[in-house]
Amino acid sequence: MSARVLPADLPASIAEAAAVLRGGGLVAFPTETVYGLGADAMNPRAVLRVFEVKARPSFDPLIVHIDRASALPRVASGIDARVEALAARFWPGPLTLVLPRVPDLPDIVTAGLDTVGVRVPAHAAARALLEAAATPVAAPSANPFGYVSPTTARHVADLLGGKVDVVLDGGPCRVGVESTILSLAQDPPVILRPGGVPREELEKALGHPLVVAGPAERPLAPGQLQKHYATRTPLRLLDGPAGEAPARGGRVGLLLLSPRAEARGYAAVEVLAPDGSLATAAANLFAALRHLDALGLDLILAEPCGESGLGHAIMDRLRRAAARA
Ligand code: TXA
Ligand code: MG
Repeated sequence: MSARVLPADLPASIAEAAAVLRGGGLVAFPTETVYGLGADAMNPRAVLRVFEVKARPSFDPLIVHIDRASALPRVASGIDARVEALAARFWPGPLTLVLPRVPDLPDIVTAGLDTVGVRVPAHAAARALLEAAATPVAAPSANPFGYVSPTTARHVADLLGGKVDVVLDGGPCRVGVESTILSLAQDPPVILRPGGVPREELEKALGHPLVVAGPAERPLAPGQLQKHYATRTPLRLLDGPAGEAPARGGRVGLLLLSPRAEARGYAAVEVLAPDGSLATAAANLFAALRHLDALGLDLILAEPCGESGLGHAIMDRLRRAAARA
């Protein structure tokens, strides 16, 4: 059986998907970052299915999605002026805040942690779905555990289609990398995952510099593991600009930020941003990785980009794709 793929811009699709969520089913839905695999966060059996479908280890907590900041007290506590300021500035949008959780939230959502990751997504279909379902929705990225996140409904249907009830097709994701995760449950706050909101913007809003957690400070959570967001084809980061393909090494694919005439001899080349912008590169990153991964290459080489703004999230994903398991 395969999932029904419904156009996300039709009110009837939203109503149907919301009913599936209310009934304990699974709905894959578009957000501005990547597609999520959603279940009613207040229904532990539904959330358990998310873990099963993704083959996700039970110690990896899920992000809870709410339709507006005023719904935050349903899932989190510790809502102070700083939280309100960040919510006002960045929600709806690609920022997940880690806060103390409320006792009502099922343990399975937070993997037993006393904190919860929560965000208000910006995609119109996601917000309509959350509003219609009238419940917080726990949703990881809609990919098998460890693989590249989906940025189109097609990506979801390709790898998880048979295992979810409904896929809402809202087109390609605008941001293309996952949300930035900022933990306010520790002092000073720490970025647990670079993402769609650049660190510089958070620092400006908070008025102080932020640390990005190294592996040691991170909670034991696979999304923060070294090896993640990975293609099946081995991937290596180049030290600098790409030149000719290595003479030995079989069929090699190349991932470039912008077009490069010197790059010759590759079996396939993907250019992330013909316009050279990091926002375009982020939006195209996961689709390009999937495309190269489908070609049966021996190796993918990726050109590094600068680590300011969205470049930080792009390099984070490429490093983890390149890490050894
Ligand atoms: O953009 C996104 O964040 C997407 C869309 C669907 O919203 N979601 C997403 O979910 O990327 P997922 O499950 O693929 O990644 C969530 C990350 C994991 O690394 C998890 O460990 C971390 O969030 N996380 C969730 N709750 C946490 C908590 N209470 N403390 C620390 N990390 C947490
Ligand atoms: Mg994920």
